[in-house]
Amino acid sequence: MTLHKLTDGVTRFGAQDFDRRLFDELIPLPDGTSYNAYLVEGSEKTVLVDTVDPRKSSAFDTWLASIDRLDYLVTQHVEQDHSGSIPIVLERFPNATILTTPKAKPLIVDHLHVNENRIRTVEDGETVDLGDRTLEFLHAPWVHWPETMLTYLQEDRILFTCDFLGSHLATTQLHGPSQDRVHVAAKRYYAEIMMPFHTIIRKHLDRLADYDLAMIAPSHGPVYDDPSFILDAYGHWVNDPPENLVLLPYVSMHGSTGLMVEHLVGALTERGVQVEPFNLTVTDLGKLAIALVDAATVVFATPTILTGPHPNVLATAYLVAALRPKLRFAGVVASYGWAGKATEGLTDLLGSLKVEWLDPIKVKGQPRKEDYEALDRLAEEIAARHKALAKEG
Ligand code: FEO
Repeated sequence: MTLHKLTDGVTRFGAQDFDRRLFDELIPLPDGTSYNAYLVEGSEKTVLVDTVDPRKSSAFDTWLASIDRLDYLVTQHVEQDHSGSIPIVLERFPNATILTTPKAKPLIVDHLHVNENRIRTVEDGETVDLGDRTLEFLHAPWVHWPETMLTYLQEDRILFTCDFLGSHLATTQLHGPSQDRVHVAAKRYYAEIMMPFHTIIRKHLDRLADYDLAMIAPSHGPVYDDPSFILDAYGHWVNDPPENLVLLPYVSMHGSTGLMVEHLVGALTERGVQVEPFNLTVTDLGKLAIALVDAATVVFATPTILTGPHPNVLATAYLVAALRPKLRFAGVVASYGWAGKATEGLTDLLGSLKVEWLDPIKVKGQPRKEDYEALDRLAEEIAARHKALAKEG
């Protein structure tokens, strides 16, 4: 664990999880993660903001034992990496009350079997007096669950944001190893967790523009002593138009799809379009997610297994649709041996994406001259659409 003082009377307990490599059994964590809880000591009341993942509860409990009193536990979000140690806090401090949103209350009861008498709900904009300090609660639904809220410590101008604006990055440094490294980790976090809600997040960012912030303290990753760094980054990710970038997630079983991908990469590059291929048998899906924040186009390339797309491509297409990126165009190229239904399987799955579909390309066996010409036409079409998009922007 790491203990850091943000200012007099505000301490961070950072449970650094350097070894964790997967979140939700899905999201790759190349840099581990941290679960941050914050102790705020007012002249009359003491508050803990969030707890830690149960896998770190032993060290957390040791730290709790050093705290003289606790009046409130602020639960900003009920996902277990922040709420999972609530029971040990309530046991150690029998007079402490949970402060949370009305939507979070039944979730806490259901997920952690907490007696609802220990929970007091707070409204959006409500304040709680700690004596010489004041907490203000900002309901912020869908970052990334429906019950979430942020907490503003008015006198110190510190905003506690739980998942929002956070990063999966284990580090013993309060403010992170470097802005570049934090930026990449925060962008990966945004892409994987927050991007599906980017239109709602835009509204939350607009609201925060009215707040004078000295520090942003998320419950994952380093604390930001320059709030504009992460707020500006989120502003770009949420608001900027998609870039002149094509993503090419692909699998090739016997080489035909690989030949098509190689040709398309060259054809796009010749036409001034940036392209990133992702071999789905080896790629880090987090890198694909990061690229989805900026890309205008995705083209899936798949071989055919029986009559449909390769399962890795199907799973990735499902993930892309779930992440709801700002993509504007999508296409599918497929190779097949005897049955050619792979493109239909993918376009059906991606139906929820609000994109313009480019004509699919299906190739039987190894690509021939006319197949490469079709890929050239696809590259030409993408380049033209991206130029039109740049003029819109
Ligand atoms: Fe970090 Fe949504 O939990």
